[in-house]
Amino acid sequence: MAKKIVAGNWKMNKNLQEGIELAKGLNEALAADKPNCGVVICTPFIHLAKVSEIINHDVIGLGAENCADKASGAYTGEVSAEMVKSTGAEYVILGHSERREYYNETPEILKEKVELALANGLKIIFCIGESLEQRKANEQNAVVKAELEGSVFHLSAEQFKNIVIAYEPIWAIGTGMTATADQAEEIHAYIRSIIAEKYGQAVADETSILYGGSCKASNAPELFAKPDIDGGLIGGASLKVADFKGIIDAWK
Ligand code: PGA
Repeated sequence: MAKKIVAGNWKMNKNLQEGIELAKGLNEALAADKPNCGVVICTPFIHLAKVSEIINHDVIGLGAENCADKASGAYTGEVSAEMVKSTGAEYVILGHSERREYYNETPEILKEKVELALANGLKIIFCIGESLEQRKANEQNAVVKAELEGSVFHLSAEQFKNIVIAYEPIWAIGTGMTATADQAEEIHAYIRSIIAEKYGQAVADETSILYGGSCKASNAPELFAKPDIDGGLIGGASLKVADFKGIIDAWK
């Protein structure tokens, strides 16, 4: 069975002091009331080293929201996978639709990032998902398949065990428009089936496939009740302890 995970994606929110407060608050809340699932917080780069010192890594995993597509050197402003790892982080989000859209991250660039993240011992939360136009044209399955083939399906089965998939329909991100639990389950089951085709059923069954897109405490229980939904990647609702804890508690 795949590990159940609730991961937060803070995006470009919280200054350093605010981020420290949020991490402390979450750490305290989960020390008082142990979660029934894996919990990960993915923060801006500048928070990682500090937050890493604050959290109990046995309970909360730490991740970056991105890393460079180059190993090191003269790439002003970039942060390498090795640097991310050196903060104490265990995860990195790659392939988020906001990075693909606003920063022109192509499948080839993402493939480089995937390679470097794995080479540096990071687990990857790899995001895939279709736009509203693609959903209307019923192209969602082809889109997620192409995204997997473009950046992660070249990996060995052993390497692929370090990949967590996050299915995030672009039309549901930050819009308040959640996919219905049935819509999400349908495509999660499809994603698991193509992983099974590629790597075998055992690897597919062990792969955590998270749902992301306006997931909150009120809709998480219905989503997480579906057999192929192993948790969530949470944006807006990861920015307050009570909201995020409410989603974590959906696994209770
Ligand atoms: P949201 O974002 O929960 O704010 O919709 C999810 C994501 O983009 O990871």
